Amino acid sequence: MDTQAITLSRFIIDEQRKLGHSADGEFGGLINDIAIACKGVAALVGKGALAGVLGVAGSENAMGDAQKKMDLIANDLFIDALENNGHCAGMASEELDEILTLPDGKIRGSYLVSFDPLDGSSNMDINIDVGAIFSIMKAPENGTEPVAADFARPGVEQIAAGYCLYGPSSMFVLTTGAGVNGFTLDTSIGEFILTHPDMKIPKDTNEFAINASNQRHWEPAIQRYIADCQAGETGSLNKNYNMRWVAAMVGEIHRILCRGGVFLYPIDERNREAGGKLRLLYEGNPMAMLVEQAGGAASTGYERIMEVMPNGDPHQRIAVIMGSKTEVETIIGYHS
Ligand code: F6P
Repeated sequence: MDTQAITLSRFIIDEQRKLGHSADGEFGGLINDIAIACKGVAALVGKGALAGVLGVAGSENAMGDAQKKMDLIANDLFIDALENNGHCAGMASEELDEILTLPDGKIRGSYLVSFDPLDGSSNMDINIDVGAIFSIMKAPENGTEPVAADFARPGVEQIAAGYCLYGPSSMFVLTTGAGVNGFTLDTSIGEFILTHPDMKIPKDTNEFAINASNQRHWEPAIQRYIADCQAGETGSLNKNYNMRWVAAMVGEIHRILCRGGVFLYPIDERNREAGGKLRLLYEGNPMAMLVEQAGGAASTGYERIMEVMPNGDPHQRIAVIMGSKTEVETIIGYHS
C-alpha cells in the first residue's frame, strides 16, 4: 500500500482550506456523503447478477423511462447518504418526479444536490459502463426549506460537480471550480485515491460521439458537421475521424477527459419541443462544469450550457455538444 496516497477525504480537506469553504467541514462532509453512496453502488454494480440487481423494476421515472432495479437502489443509496448527516438541505433526482426535502427531525445543511443516481442504466444488464452524476449548489441563505425554484438556477452557480464511473475500475471525478481531479476506488481499503490529478482535455481532436441512428432527425447544422467528419481528409474538415458510442454519458465524458473528443446529443425533430434529450440539471450542467474546468467547452450549439436559464422544471431537457474546445467551436460555427 502507498502510505503517501492522497485519499478523496484528504484532498477535500485541503481543497476546503484553499477555496475558503467554512472550516466546519460541512462541504467536505457532503462530498464524503456522495462518495459513500457511490461506493455502495459500485459494490452492487460490481457483483451484477450475483447481487440480484439486474433487470427492470417495473416502474417508470418522471420522464417515462422504464426504471431498472439498480436505478431505484442507487437512488435510495444517494438519498440515504444525503439526508442523514446534516450537510444537504434538499435534493433533486432524475428518478423522482419532485424535489426532495428532508424529513422532519433531520438537520438541514447548506447545500442542494441534484443527481442522476445511475446514468446509462440500460447498460446495466449487458455489463457495460454506467455511472452517477451530481451537481452541488448553495441552499437558500435564510435556511428555509428549499423549493423547486431554488434548483432553477443556471449552471454557472454550481459550486461543485462530478461523476462516478462504474467501469473496469470505479472512478470518482470531481471539480470544485479549481480544475478537475480523478480518484480511483481502491476496493481493498474502500477509499477513492487521487490517480488523475488536474485532468485536461486536449483542445483538438478527431474523435466524435453521437447516436448516428438519429441522423435523419438532426438539424441541418449537425447533419453537415457529421457528414464532414465522415468525409475525413477528403472533406472540408480535412482530417480523418474516429467514432465512439458508449450510450452512458459518464463513459463518454470520462473518455473525453482522458484523451479528448466531442460528445453530441443534439436537438432533433422529435425532441425539439422538449428542448433535447438529456437533462439540464442532472447531466448538462454538471458535465459542462467538469468539461469547462478541464479546458473544454460545452454548448447547445447556440449558447453556453451553463448560462441557460432554467425554466423551473427540474426535468428540463437540453441539447448537448461538449468536449475539446476547438472542435466544439467548429461545431458552433456550423450553427451560425
Ligand atoms: O440520459 C441517459 C443516457 O443514457 C445518457 O447517459 C446517454 O448518453 C444517452 O442517454 C444514450 O442515449 P441513446 O439511448 O440514444 O443511445
